[in-house]
Amino acid sequence: MALTARPRCGWLTGMRVAAVGDLHMRDAVRGRFRDAFLELAEHAEVLLLAGDLTNSGTLREAQLLCDEVRGLPVPVVGVLGNHDHDRRLGYRIAVLLSEIGVTMLDGDATTLEHKGFRLGIAGVMGGGGGFPCYPGTPGEGSPEHRERHRRGPVDALRLHAALDTLDCDMRIALTHFAPVVDTLRGEPPKIYAGLGCQELATAIDAGGAELAVHGHAHNGAEFGRTPGGVAVRNVSHTVIGAPYRVYELPR
Ligand SMILES: [Fe+2]
Ligand SMILES: [Fe+2]
Repeated sequence: MALTARPRCGWLTGMRVAAVGDLHMRDAVRGRFRDAFLELAEHAEVLLLAGDLTNSGTLREAQLLCDEVRGLPVPVVGVLGNHDHDRRLGYRIAVLLSEIGVTMLDGDATTLEHKGFRLGIAGVMGGGGGFPCYPGTPGEGSPEHRERHRRGPVDALRLHAALDTLDCDMRIALTHFAPVVDTLRGEPPKIYAGLGCQELATAIDAGGAELAVHGHAHNGAEFGRTPGGVAVRNVSHTVIGAPYRVYELPR
């Protein structure tokens, strides 16, 4: 059963956005989300998937994921996570999802309309890169570690550009990596820099988003806010403890 949470006090009920990340689909959890997803129309107008959709980036896991989200009663919009790239098959996973009607974002955006309300969603995977008090060690470690640190700021620029393309009533930024440290609380601070970067928050603020949704921080916290005051929600499945969380946006 979905829980309902409001990003800001006082917002009027408008469009309802369901979101979950870190499904980590694999044989052991096959069917975990299906029944709840099939009932989505009662609770939301769209489902956002915040990356790490597969557990280790195999095409077998991608097919299991397709079985979870095929033919849902609401549009589904997603971004990939780092684990979806584990076998360098991330873009093939995205194609499989696209073929069953999921809108996969990677530096671009989509607009959904519901009863005259236009919701824009811009998405990137994002990356690490760190935060002012948690800079990490971007020049050290494995090539994958260094690549992850480089990708965060680059994807932040792509997110900002994608947000700028939207002509809509409200914008959501969808990422896998985190834009703030608020939603990392519970994770070891020494890994914060690998879980997200400040530049994503800068893009969210500058791009006029009203809500930012991410995953990746399995042991983090649900609620946060950018320096500019935008509500941030970590919807990692292990954080929300439900098949998805629903956020009501104002009309
Ligand atoms: Fe994950
Ligand atoms: Fe992840």
